[in-house]
Amino acid sequence: MKKQKIIVTGGCGYIGSHTTVALQNAGFDVVILDNLMNSQIDTLDRIAEITGIRPSFERIDCTDVNAMHDVFARHSDAMGVIHFAALKAVGESVAHPLKYYKNNILSLLNTLEMMLEFKIPNIVFSSSATVYGEPDQLPVTEDTPLKPATSPYGQTKIMAENIIRDTVKANPELHAVLLRYFNPIGAHPSGKIGELPIGVPNNLMPYVTQVAAGIREQLNVFGNDYNTPDGFCIRDYIDVNDLADAHVAALEHMKTNDVKVEVYNLGTGRGLSVMEIIKAFEDATGVKLNYTIAARRPGDVPAIWACSDLANEKLGWRAKIPLTETMRTAWQWQKNVSKL
Ligand code: NAD
Ligand code: UD1
Repeated sequence: MKKQKIIVTGGCGYIGSHTTVALQNAGFDVVILDNLMNSQIDTLDRIAEITGIRPSFERIDCTDVNAMHDVFARHSDAMGVIHFAALKAVGESVAHPLKYYKNNILSLLNTLEMMLEFKIPNIVFSSSATVYGEPDQLPVTEDTPLKPATSPYGQTKIMAENIIRDTVKANPELHAVLLRYFNPIGAHPSGKIGELPIGVPNNLMPYVTQVAAGIREQLNVFGNDYNTPDGFCIRDYIDVNDLADAHVAALEHMKTNDVKVEVYNLGTGRGLSVMEIIKAFEDATGVKLNYTIAARRPGDVPAIWACSDLANEKLGWRAKIPLTETMRTAWQWQKNVSKL
């Protein structure tokens, strides 16, 4: 039987590369579109080492409509698109809003336009827990009201969700699943792919592993005076491999159900504080972390975690990788990166 083709924008990135592995393992034929602005071409070799299959690759910028037209014309037999391509650094988005609006919104507009032109019916979109802002109730469900975005990055996610809803409303032949990721961490158990932050990491987990590796002197823990059980911020940290599987589940769901626009939270359902993450890392790896308590980081919400029951009920998906395993893969990846 001929494999079903999926276009994966941003497929060389952190979540995209793990999802490509999951898609190939599930029997899909993957075409990656990436301009490598935040990733490396070698990722394709590493995906091939893991799965035995090198994904097709098109080095293009999704904001370039002519290049997109050319690629989509050649892959118009795809059954769907997973749209990861975006910039994601919150602080940078505040400093350079136009860069973020242009890249993240134009990439999406071009993707949707090409899908309509070439009659590709299914889109899975990477949204974020950031759309909930500081929620009034925990855990957050898909019905929890959205809050105004506090950064241009967050704004692009809210805008993108609305653009997709409006486009589906006007074009019923299009079907969409919006996945709201909580905090993806960890790496592939092979140690061959993982997160590659450029410069000083903004996110907790790559900072933790870089401190453990001696690349950074100490971790600044942002705030210990939050109204939470231990005073530290709480997040829902989800293994990137679990997250990748959810994309496969979403596509399978779209094949057999009459999907218009569906939204799913992707988290573990468990909130962990920054200190609990530090302890979990130390326990899983045996490496002591040098950390200090620092001031709160502006814009941080005190606590957020997901209710992912809907994804379990409708997609048959649930996060299942134990935190200890996630900490080990994150650390193994860091040690391998240092050798790259
Ligand atoms: P990443 O930066 O590792 O991957 C994004 C990929 O997209 C990179 O390979 C980059 O080169 C590519 N890209 C960006 N703009 C492009 C363009 N115009 N044309 C072609 N390629 C382009 O990021 P990630 O962590 O894998 O995130 C993937 C998606 O998930 C993003 O949309 C991000 O906003 C979203 N998301 C990420 C997180 C997270 O914590 N990592 C949380 C919530 C949502
Ligand atoms: C951040 C973004 C969010 C984005 C997500 C993925 C902000 C305010 N939010 O989420 O919009 O979708 O990344 O890119 O930037 N921490 C430390 N020390 C550090 C780094 C982090 O204590 O050096 C703490 C933070 O205060 C937070 C937790 O660790 O409580 C997680 O931080 P991070 O990994 O940056 O994720 P979010 O802030 O949840």
